[in-house]
Amino acid sequence: MRFDVFTLFPEMFTGPLQESIIKRAQERGLISVHLHNIRDYAAGRHRITDDAPYGGGGGMVMKPEPIFAAVEAVLGDEKGVPVILLSPQGRLFTHQVAKELSRHPRLALICGRYEGVDERVREHLATDEISIGDYVLSGGELAAMVVIDAVTRLLPGVLGDPGAAFEDSHAWGLLEYPHYTRPAVFRGWGVPEVLLSGNHAAIARWRREQALRRTLERRPDLLERAVLTEEDRAFLARLGWPKTPESDKPT
Ligand code: ADE
Repeated sequence: MRFDVFTLFPEMFTGPLQESIIKRAQERGLISVHLHNIRDYAAGRHRITDDAPYGGGGGMVMKPEPIFAAVEAVLGDEKGVPVILLSPQGRLFTHQVAKELSRHPRLALICGRYEGVDERVREHLATDEISIGDYVLSGGELAAMVVIDAVTRLLPGVLGDPGAAFEDSHAWGLLEYPHYTRPAVFRGWGVPEVLLSGNHAAIARWRREQALRRTLERRPDLLERAVLTEEDRAFLARLGWPKTPESDKPT
């Protein structure tokens, strides 16, 4: 998978790209990340990349010409590459979106800055627009790094344990079960007995129930779309899910 990132601040990526799983994925040739400074494509001695908004008001807007020039120079005639604008106005980034993006051999990521990006970038250059959450960052760089990280984890061979991404929180639409490691007792707090039992069927059932319970407590909205078995539904029913008008009544 090749990522082409268009940014005014390429150095924001150097730390995160040089650590851990993302570093190893690059060393093993599973991904490559190419950072392109939009300023290098700006015209004139001053290489200006932003300007005042038409119609007045505060702040600056990123000019369209350097962004178009950068993306067109780098992508050339290659067709079908998603050109993703990172912005708080995009569709929400989820595990499903990461999976969808992971099927492409190449992605282009445009990081917006300042008050915004000239609308013609959104209309005529970007093919997709993604937000990583309902808050405003200073720019799209951290969001692009989130996308690179989440997509890379899903690529075959990136995680040492092939089951790891499969088991992750959200992979099945549920939050993950709790994890424990040695010592069996820490400051008087023990590990749940079942995990020490060696009974693999009981452990698998406990983990599934914990995932269901945790999702119900923290993110009940996820249960609506999760892949649930009859056994899962029976377990959730005992916890009072789904809520019926009847169960809402005071007792
Ligand atoms: N740029 C600024 N805020 C953002 C967000 N929430 N997601 C993606 N890009 C952004």
